Amino acid sequence: MTPSPRPSARRATTVPRRRAVLATVPVALAALVGAAAPSAPGTAGAPGAGDPYFPLSGNGGYHVQHYDLTLRYDITRRHLDGTAVLTARTTQRLNRFDLDLTGLTVTGVTVDRTPAAFRRAGQELVVTPRRSLPAGRAFRIAVTYQGTPKPVTDPDGSQDGWIPTDDGAFVAGEPQGAMTWFPADAHPKDKASYDITITVPQGRTAVANGSLAAQHTAQGRTTFHWREDRPMAAYLATATIGTFQVQRFTTRDGIEVYNAVDPREASAAAPVLAQLPSVLAWESRLFGPYPYRTAGAIVDHAPGIGYALETQTRPLYDSAPDLTTLVHESAHQWFGDSVSLTTWKDIWLNEGFATYAEWLYTEQHGGDSAQKTFDALYATPPGDALWAYPPGDPGSGKNIFGKPVYARGAMALHELRKAVGDRDFFRILRDWAAQHRDGHGTTAQFTQLAERASGKRLDGLFHTWLFTRGKPNRA
Ligand code: TRP
Ligand code: ZN
Repeated sequence: MTPSPRPSARRATTVPRRRAVLATVPVALAALVGAAAPSAPGTAGAPGAGDPYFPLSGNGGYHVQHYDLTLRYDITRRHLDGTAVLTARTTQRLNRFDLDLTGLTVTGVTVDRTPAAFRRAGQELVVTPRRSLPAGRAFRIAVTYQGTPKPVTDPDGSQDGWIPTDDGAFVAGEPQGAMTWFPADAHPKDKASYDITITVPQGRTAVANGSLAAQHTAQGRTTFHWREDRPMAAYLATATIGTFQVQRFTTRDGIEVYNAVDPREASAAAPVLAQLPSVLAWESRLFGPYPYRTAGAIVDHAPGIGYALETQTRPLYDSAPDLTTLVHESAHQWFGDSVSLTTWKDIWLNEGFATYAEWLYTEQHGGDSAQKTFDALYATPPGDALWAYPPGDPGSGKNIFGKPVYARGAMALHELRKAVGDRDFFRILRDWAAQHRDGHGTTAQFTQLAERASGKRLDGLFHTWLFTRGKPNRA
């Protein structure tokens, strides 16, 4: 959407903060000043979270703790009615802040139940509360909106967000699509819990993340109330709608599984989905305990999408997945969902890890060794797309889902494994998942952990495999 940074748009709002003096003013006077000058300068929240690849994703000045989304979708009219209630906390004094939202019509905004002024500016919903909010204050934002959601086209040409299908909608928000269906602080830096309630025509199923708290049918409509109580990045939220066959059961490990499968994909999906409990159990042995209490799959029939997404607890597939894809999206629950990015530049921490999980699965289930997979890739000539850019520095949002991120990212992990040995390597993966569970991790934190855990200097290895241009020479 914004292929190049827009420094002017960002700079305009980052006026130097000179508010510290206010903190020393007696409370009564501060209230008076606040009332007299609700739009004092220097207190606007930034329109972006500072990500160079997606400068307007996320926002500054507050964090969201919880989203309560209530949606109703008319499939034939492709019309969405929504109410979003966000529980948030300011990180600075704020007389104005942004949410990410594109398309749709906003019909009202309240802050702490008081109507607030708002305007639209591209993908920003700019909200001016009646009174400015002090730093560190918990507050509540309610947005009512409606319209026909339109997917975003990403810099790499793929579509994401709310994508209509012949029987509902395929809802996949990576990297930018959350803003097509709810107002959000839509950068993975800011994770929150979610209640997602979706009303659809009776006979259709709406599937979101976490557990199904309630389901009821009245007057020809069914309402599904989903709750994800673990922190989740906005791009991992879904509200996928279709005609689905539903299968529910609890695994031996106590994980509640909810699978929703388009009947057109059912026979192809069945043998693969039957493996989900054993895949999760195998990954738990390798990576540490599965991070969530719920799991499952949404297998849609959505030709033309061309990708699957690791939607938290319940990955979303555009058609019946093969076992390798199931392994990949499941591995993301540890790497990408539980341990989240702080910047899209670090995307190899998601895709390199999920790809290496595929190699490990193959190795441990009678297929090629990871070494053999590595060797086959290493044999590709220097001009191949695999070597087009370094995985630790893809350069732009256009490249985040490219071959270097997935395959060379996995190669970097394989090189690490060879350097430190299996014992330390798998300990590093488990420590990584455990130490950053329900949180965030950066490339620098990962390389530091690897060095500490192994007692080896690994800067050369990581530099070579993550950051050098072109095909690395064999060590
Ligand atoms: N993260 C997804 C996966 O590898 C892939 C993905 C999500 C994607 N959104 C995309 C790929 C958009 C291309 C374009 O599991
Ligand atoms: Zn992936």
